[in-house]
Amino acid sequence: HRHTGKASVESIAELVATHETHPRLPDYRPLDAYRAEGGYALLAKVLDGSLAPETAMETLEASGLRGLGGAGFRSGLKWKFVRQETGPRLMAVNADEGEPGTFKDRWYLERDPHRFLEGTLIAASVSGCETCWIYLRDEYPELREVLLREIAALEEAGLTQHCRLELRRGAGAYICGEESAMLESIEGRRGYPRHKPPYPTQKGLWGRPTLIHNVETLYWVRDILEKGAEWFAGEGRHGRRGLRSFSVSGRVKEPGVKLAPAGITIRELIEEYCGGMAEGHSFKGYLPGGASGGILPASMDTVPLDFDTLQEHGCFIGSAAVVVLSDKDDIKNVVRNLMRFFEDESCGQCTPCRVGTEKAVKLLDAPQWDKPLLDELSKVMMEASICGLGQAAPNPLLCAFKYFPEEVQ
Ligand code: NAI
Ligand code: SF4
Repeated sequence: HRHTGKASVESIAELVATHETHPRLPDYRPLDAYRAEGGYALLAKVLDGSLAPETAMETLEASGLRGLGGAGFRSGLKWKFVRQETGPRLMAVNADEGEPGTFKDRWYLERDPHRFLEGTLIAASVSGCETCWIYLRDEYPELREVLLREIAALEEAGLTQHCRLELRRGAGAYICGEESAMLESIEGRRGYPRHKPPYPTQKGLWGRPTLIHNVETLYWVRDILEKGAEWFAGEGRHGRRGLRSFSVSGRVKEPGVKLAPAGITIRELIEEYCGGMAEGHSFKGYLPGGASGGILPASMDTVPLDFDTLQEHGCFIGSAAVVVLSDKDDIKNVVRNLMRFFEDESCGQCTPCRVGTEKAVKLLDAPQWDKPLLDELSKVMMEASICGLGQAAPNPLLCAFKYFPEEVQ
């Protein structure tokens, strides 16, 4: 079941009426409270045409909002691409937050689910999507209940008439967070990534044009459209624009989700937002983007953390999952651990990744790491794997050779 990643379908109203309250239901802002502070007024403006779709798309573009699932594709452009296709158009929300170290979507959904739901309904209206599937990872059962309750409340309030909301459960497969594997899973098949192009904006769910967004991208839509593009674009440091929700974990005093300017450096993030390093730990290195974004040494602490700024160093920020390592962490162990994760989560569809991750784990388990062989294997995986999992899996080990040679050779 786990490896098929097959989702199950349920009637929302039926579930809300019959199941027991989750014992850890978060203390979130429900529909009434959200509406009392002006929530859904913006959706009303979009629906009655007083906020034109073109204006909404232009504002989003001007704000510089990019896909916060990790790839950073321009959000306003995606809306435009879907809107220009012939209907029926569909939408899918990626709430399968699976990147190790990433927990920002959960954080926002646990507190203000309607800010995300309003963003979703606005995006659907502007792009002309008539049904939206929210694909929620099954490891968030309390959020499933929150969404079930609040979607039922929205239906009751008549706010979903332009776009029906469907909630689907993932089944613990990391690969189903890859957008095309998620589409397969929603359609009821095994979560195998598709070849791209065609992109989902043209050919997505059941072959229809499909708008896909991560939870957090939609979460910011209301604020950006209400407060203006400059509100979001005006934030940023070291020449970068916007805000990023860093999920910080590891050897810091105060881990958690930190809303900070795009382009902040790791030192600034640790000192200003995390209370410094944990007691007894000295800063040694960091994963800037979860398992797949590579590893950087403490000496590279002036790099602005943002999309496009880390590529030249063989890394990427992805969903901004920053894992801070200290002198107590062994880089070889970190790399082995990450490669085992990729081996376990490889969907097995293509040989370079299925066999490559398995061979890499064996090579990394040897007392001496065979650099030429690992380099060759990495090259094959990066160049010949179908999707991002296999292409990015060698990043941590390549970084280890580049930035921590004395430890791994
Ligand atoms: P990608 O760059 O292939 O695509 C990004 C988005 O833009 C997709 O929705 C794609 O369909 C769209 N797109 C790209 N070019 C397009 C075009 N010409 N026309 C229309 N649409 C276009 O990246 P991908 O593989 O979707 O995502 C990789 C990222 O996902 C990594 O940076 C990684 O950090 C992140 N990730 C996040 C996870 C999480 O839990 N948040 C889990 C695993 C990976
Ligand atoms: Fe599956 Fe890995 Fe190939 Fe992606 S790269 S399709 S996860 S085997």
